[in-house]
Order: sequence, then C-alpha cells, then structure tokens
Amino acid sequence: MLSLENIYFKYPARRRGNGDAHWVLEDISLTAAAGEFISIIGPSGCGKSTLLSLISGLLRPSRGRILAQGREVLGPSRSRVLIFQGHLLFPWKTAIQNIEFVLKARGLSQGLRRRQALEYLQRVRLEAHADAYPRELSGGMQQRIGIARALAAEPDILLLDEPFSSLDLVAKCAIIDELKAIASQMGKTVILVTHNLEEAFHVGHRVYLLTKGPGRIAATFDPSATKPDQLQSLGASSEFQAFQKKVSAFMTDPAAAQR
Ligand SMILES: Nc1ncnc2c1ncn2[C@@H]1O[C@H](COP(=O)(O)OP(=O)(O)OP(=O)(O)O)[C@@H](O)[C@H]1O
Ligand SMILES: [Mg+2]
Repeated sequence: MLSLENIYFKYPARRRGNGDAHWVLEDISLTAAAGEFISIIGPSGCGKSTLLSLISGLLRPSRGRILAQGREVLGPSRSRVLIFQGHLLFPWKTAIQNIEFVLKARGLSQGLRRRQALEYLQRVRLEAHADAYPRELSGGMQQRIGIARALAAEPDILLLDEPFSSLDLVAKCAIIDELKAIASQMGKTVILVTHNLEEAFHVGHRVYLLTKGPGRIAATFDPSATKPDQLQSLGASSEFQAFQKKVSAFMTDPAAAQR
C-alpha cells in the first residue's frame, strides 16, 4: 500500500537564479493498493516525473509525507523501482546477465541466479533471447528486459515514467498487458506516468490528472469496469471518448471544467 499525504514540493532556489523557487507540486494526496495500477497524466512540466522521484525516495517532500507499506519513505529502496523511458540495460551484458546482476545484488547464489533470471525472462516472454545482447534486440524487447530486470529486484512498487512512448501500438499493447497481469498476479503497485490518454485509461484502476504547474490533482477518474479489453479498440468506446473530452476540457480551461 502506497499513500501520499498532502505532498508539497519545491526544488531548492538556484543561487544565482531568478528569485524564489516556486511550488512544483501542491497538496497531492493519493493512495494505491497492492495489485493496483495508477495512471498520472498532466501537461508537460506539471511535476509528474518529480512526483515519481518523490515516491522513489530520490527526493524528499517539502511538506507532507509518503508512506509505503505503512512506513515513511525517507530515501531510495529496492522495494520501489523507477523505470525511465531509456531504462539503460548494460550493453556489455546479455539479457539474462542484466537480470542476474540484480539477483547478485540481492545475494542469490550463482546457480539460483541463473534459474530465477530465466523465470523473469519467461514472464516477459523473452526466454528465447536470454543470450542476446541489448543491441541485438528491438527497442520493445529491450524495454521488456528492463521490466524483467526491475521485477527481479522484487519491488513492491513499480514507477514507470513514460516507458512506452517509443513503441508502436502492437508492441505497446503486448508489454502493457504483460505488466497488468504481472502486477495483479504478483500484487505489485504500478504507477504509470504518461502523455497517452489511451494508455492511461486502459491500464488505470484510477487516473489522476494534474494541473499545469504547480501540479495539483485537478480530477480523478475511475475508468469503468466495462471498458474494452483491448487497447486497440479503446478509441471507439463511449467511456473513453467521455474521458478524453473531460481531460481536454481541464487542459484548455481548468476553471470552467471544475464548475
Ligand atoms: N532538478 C531540478 N531543479 C529545478 N527544477 C526542476 C528540476 N527538475 C524539474 N524541475 C522543474 O520542475 C517542474 C516539473 O518538472 P517535471 O520534470 O517533474 O515535469 P513533468 O510533468 O515530468 O514534465 P514532462 O511531461 O515534460 O516530462 C518544471 O518546471 C521543471 O522545470
Ligand atoms: Mg517527465
């Protein structure tokens, strides 16, 4: 269980900067249970990546607190993994070695490492490519290895910062569906930051829309249980179209949309 309680954040003022630092995030409260997939959307610069850094523990809130499994987040931990768009596999290690590296850090013996690494590769259906180097894999495959490697750290919380933006729809759907299944089977909490409304709606148990800086929660959406199974057919669904309309109303005129 992850919970953010009235989070405020500002970056420290630059020494020779242009005056006082301003709030990047204001009064953000949200919760995410094990097995839940949360999407965060909002205009560029509204503080989405900053919010993920706060949850990961790389940054500390200026006010408010973040609790993960009931304990306050005071710094980075292996139980919360942040995946960026370019998730950076080690290019000199094969797919399986990239995963074994994480298992070694967890203190697993050599034999066990190999076996477990293969299991994580199976989860993202890339066991046939265990001995390939990243350069020999497509971008989408590399992204799946990145996800397998993140899972190998056995985190409770996976934080994804626009990880699918360079993928075509088919590759994206495959990864997203794998992640959704893994998250619910393994009881992980996944927080996805994205600019893509289809993605946000498709995966999200809840979708939070942030306002243009300072980032506040402008609206929360609960994509209905009746949404289509396939990301590909989302565009035609009336639930999605209504969601899209509300989001664009908030983006163009937040004050009017709130009335
Ligand atoms: N290290 C930093 N020091 C000072 N200000 C920063 C720093 N990182 C980000 N900012 C500022 O904080 C605000 C939020 O940035 P952030 O990267 O969190 O936005 P974002 O919502 O992820 O944007 P995008 O959608 O473009 O990725 C921006 O105004 C940015 O200029
Ligand atoms: Mg960002």
